[in-house]
Amino acid sequence: LRVKLEQRLNERLDDSRSAGLLRMPAPYDGDVARPTSHGRSILSFASNDYLGLASSVALRTAVAEAAMRHSGPGSSRAVAGTTLAHRTAERALAGHVALAEARLFTSAYSANVAVLGSLLGAGDLILSDELNHASIIDGCRLSRARTVVYRHGDLDHLTWLLREHAHTARVTAVVTETVFSMDADLADVRALRRLTHDHDAALIVDEAHALGVVGELGEGSCAASGVAPDVLVGGLGKAFGLSGGFVAGPGVIGPAIDNFARPMLFSTAILPAIAAAVPQATEMLRGASTARRRLQGHVTTIRAAAARGGRVLGSSTAPFVPVVIGDPVAAVRLSSEMRERGALVPVMRPPTVPAGTSRLRWSATASHNPEEVAQACDIFLECTTALLGSDGQREHQSEAAQR
Ligand SMILES: Cc1ncc(COP(=O)(O)O)c(C=O)c1O
Repeated sequence: LRVKLEQRLNERLDDSRSAGLLRMPAPYDGDVARPTSHGRSILSFASNDYLGLASSVALRTAVAEAAMRHSGPGSSRAVAGTTLAHRTAERALAGHVALAEARLFTSAYSANVAVLGSLLGAGDLILSDELNHASIIDGCRLSRARTVVYRHGDLDHLTWLLREHAHTARVTAVVTETVFSMDADLADVRALRRLTHDHDAALIVDEAHALGVVGELGEGSCAASGVAPDVLVGGLGKAFGLSGGFVAGPGVIGPAIDNFARPMLFSTAILPAIAAAVPQATEMLRGASTARRRLQGHVTTIRAAAARGGRVLGSSTAPFVPVVIGDPVAAVRLSSEMRERGALVPVMRPPTVPAGTSRLRWSATASHNPEEVAQACDIFLECTTALLGSDGQREHQSEAAQR
């Protein structure tokens, strides 16, 4: 029964290949909206730089200038890695989401792992939406708290679980994304706040895809709805146009993270140059109303075209458009053909999404112009017609092919 690691890895890769699930990330260079690949410029709908800040000269300049003042932080935040730039960034982020304290992380992934894995523990209960991001799932696993998954967005199921299980736990927490990253639908944060309040439970939200997009100033679903969550996780790698993540909450969250969060204690701090650019990125993001309107226009255009080639999920508030194709092989073929013709729209396959729901996920960005979006939509329609057959039959065909 003993096998060498290399052999097992090769077997697993072969299995992924034959199931159409092998990922082979292609290298791209240059601007995130119009990268160059194999010497050709293509239109990319793969980046979560929703407002075009990563492409903006102003933000690039801010990062470059900050990089001339700061290099690596040298150690974890707890040892000597907390700079004034980190603190200033944290004040800007806390203010943006209308909460008292914030702490930066190297990614939103590690922020979720920190919150769930280090602030909750044995004897606690986590109720987690079934479509929550992998970083939330991994945080739940690390926490050693009992984790019960509730049906996606189903508040009746959640209420039942709270009634059934909350009295068995010390701390109970409900955790949800606010804009679901693969389904483009929105959590009802007001109802979740009422429900958690009534059951003495904490509300933990991941606003990675809502910040910059939801609310007049891009303040996210909670601040825009007047909801104060117990803990908010945000990402800097999406609409902020940078890289990293943060955790925000009431006053106790800062010292709790500083003392208990293992990714904070045992990992080198986020680059001070990124931290130094955060206040400017936050200001740009808050002022980006024109970009938000342009983004909305692109989402509307893409949703209309995508509906002619597959089943479109979610709400037009989300800055991306998932189009279910079903079969992973068909979805990959479609995406590859589109890339050949000059438009990059990535495929989401299991384990990122449930089996049988492989999909193209179009991320819109304000740095595209309407002509570029229209051009990519034409490419999509040409390719779906060529590869998947006539309207309306596609998902059924690909599902049948899987059975
Ligand atoms: C909802 C959600 N949370 C967290 C993350 C992790 O973000 P990061 O790339 O900063 O680690 C992602 C990334 O895709 C996400 O979609």
